[in-house]
Amino acid sequence: MPESKSIAIEVLRYRPEQEDKPVWQRYTVPFTDDMSVLQALQHIKDEQDGSLSFRWSCRMAICGSCGMMVDGKPALSCQTFLRDLLPGPVRIEALAHFPIERDLIVSVDAFVRKLESIKPYIIPKEPRTLAEGEYLQTPEQLARFEQYSSCINCMLCYAACPQFGLDPNFTGPGVLALLHRYNADSRDGGRDERMEIVNAEEGVWSCTAVGYCSEVCPKHVDPANAVNQNKVNSAKDYFLRFLSPKGASA
Ligand code: FES
Repeated sequence: MPESKSIAIEVLRYRPEQEDKPVWQRYTVPFTDDMSVLQALQHIKDEQDGSLSFRWSCRMAICGSCGMMVDGKPALSCQTFLRDLLPGPVRIEALAHFPIERDLIVSVDAFVRKLESIKPYIIPKEPRTLAEGEYLQTPEQLARFEQYSSCINCMLCYAACPQFGLDPNFTGPGVLALLHRYNADSRDGGRDERMEIVNAEEGVWSCTAVGYCSEVCPKHVDPANAVNQNKVNSAKDYFLRFLSPKGASA
């Protein structure tokens, strides 16, 4: 019979009805080479402590709901394997920089409000009837924004962003990447509305270009690159305002 192994998991718990501040709790779970951090948490919840709270859904790095700090780094727990964290103990905390609601669950309210504020949908340049058919796009036009449409809203980039840690009002990497996704879309005409958010005090110029957001992104969206492109667009608008009597949007 194979020797059974185990690994220590330390979870930062916070149950507002019984704790004034988060406290560490240690569990020991069986270890196998193919076990993810999420599976370890599920083992704890199913077999040891049903009060442990965390979010998850797809278990395959698609839904973006299982983000947490694993050994101090933002990660999707379903995509992070215990075999890479040996010998343990593995320390698990709620995503950094977000208010904790309970255990590993953070509040996403402010993030969702930011997402909504950028109008994350195509605003057609001119009205087009159904009879006129689809808005066509070349592969080159698609390539300009495709990468930025892969975001799964996991918020790891926010947990990695020191500026967001200092100022929760900063629009932040994920939302600015999505904003750029729509501004760079040849079918879209909403750029001027979104540039107000880009140029605002909490917009791109708050970014201090650390780049850790892109390192932790599980989908290789490269939000730091999107933020830089937004900075270029913002600077262009600024200079065009001096050159064009009608302003940058003319
Ligand atoms: Fe969906 Fe991890 S459970 S991304």
